[in-house]
Amino acid sequence: MRTRPLKVALLGCGVVGSEVTRIMTTHTDDLTQRIGAPVELVGIAVRRPDRVREGVPAELITTDATALVKRDDVDVVVEVIGGIEPARSLITTAFEHGASVVSANKALLAQDGAALHAAAEQHGVDLYYEAAVAGAIPLVRPLRESLAGDKVNRVLGIVNGTTNFILDKMDSSGAGYSEALDEATALGYAEADPTADVEGFDAAAKAAILAGIAFHTRVRLDDVYREGMTEVTAADFASAKQMGCTIKLLAICERAADGRSVTARVHPAMIPLTHPLASVRGAYNAVFIEAEAAGQLMFYGPGAGGAPTASAVLGDIVAVCRNKVAEATGPGESAYTRLPVSTMGEVVTRYHISLDVADKPGVLAQVATVFAEHGVSIDTVRQQGKDGEASLVVVTHRAADAALSATVEALRKLDTVRGVASIMRVEGE
Ligand code: HSE
Repeated sequence: MRTRPLKVALLGCGVVGSEVTRIMTTHTDDLTQRIGAPVELVGIAVRRPDRVREGVPAELITTDATALVKRDDVDVVVEVIGGIEPARSLITTAFEHGASVVSANKALLAQDGAALHAAAEQHGVDLYYEAAVAGAIPLVRPLRESLAGDKVNRVLGIVNGTTNFILDKMDSSGAGYSEALDEATALGYAEADPTADVEGFDAAAKAAILAGIAFHTRVRLDDVYREGMTEVTAADFASAKQMGCTIKLLAICERAADGRSVTARVHPAMIPLTHPLASVRGAYNAVFIEAEAAGQLMFYGPGAGGAPTASAVLGDIVAVCRNKVAEATGPGESAYTRLPVSTMGEVVTRYHISLDVADKPGVLAQVATVFAEHGVSIDTVRQQGKDGEASLVVVTHRAADAALSATVEALRKLDTVRGVASIMRVEGE
């Protein structure tokens, strides 16, 4: 065993950083055995040095993150501060000084992953980021390594715990969005400003990272179609129940049927109660991967939280330290397919559309004609009359999203359509 210790610097000491510190300082012997060399935490950069951090050695704390990443004796920099800057500059400086980087920063990787990978390669070091997607759940490594010989066609998952908690609450209690959000906030699942979660930005960043690795191409946050879940209502859940479905905020990354392009999207969707993702409750995450030879794989677990995220960070620390001991690097970016990312309009999916219509002769025929004119085939129709009005629920067969959107726009213009009560995609069948 090599005796010179590998030196690790930590950027950020919040809920994840303090757990990383705890594990590194209490499991030192095990980590040493697993790496094949002693490993030592040599500095922790924080913004607020006076904050009480139980179990964190005070002598390691510094406010000078730049000086820490410039140290030439540091082998690994762990970035758990999040956001674009100063994280990006600190990571780049760490590479320039010969350190490998372990990051949990989904926003940065979804925006600048290609440039960061290129910088790591240029300096002969590693960039690992298992913790950036779905906390403790192994996804990056299975896609990047275990499935490296297979062809992944689809990644479908619940990758945001906050929104899954809210939707699960709405489903189980009949609560509206605001009420469920209030409970998520009170229990500490939702942040004071929940925008990144409820508007789907967090899930979209994760979708970009997963799609890029799965399809060996470049997918950035801007390429991901995104709809949040703030418009989902108790009435949508009632409609879903009538169809034997529930509603989840899904991240869906797909290779097109002709194999020439990919798509990545995040939006609420109905899924059948029989689908395994329907039983993912509370703040848990789960991701389905469909690969040509492997078939269907499901990964499930805690997608957030200090200790689960630290578990993923530690796994990466061990991996990059092993690479340092072997004087090698692990897999870098694989984007050789250069597959373009198609727009949402080209995605093929199904729709559930609930309309309030006049209950008189010819209305159903008129509505059906609009679907036919747009080349969208109807799967089922359910109508319930009440006092001269009727509620009409149409579920379509698979069609291009652009055709489905145009159909809805045309339906809105019909005099006999009083309103479009709900529109939702149907997935997972
Ligand atoms: N806020 C995220 C979630 C965790 O609720 O799943 C960090 O990505």
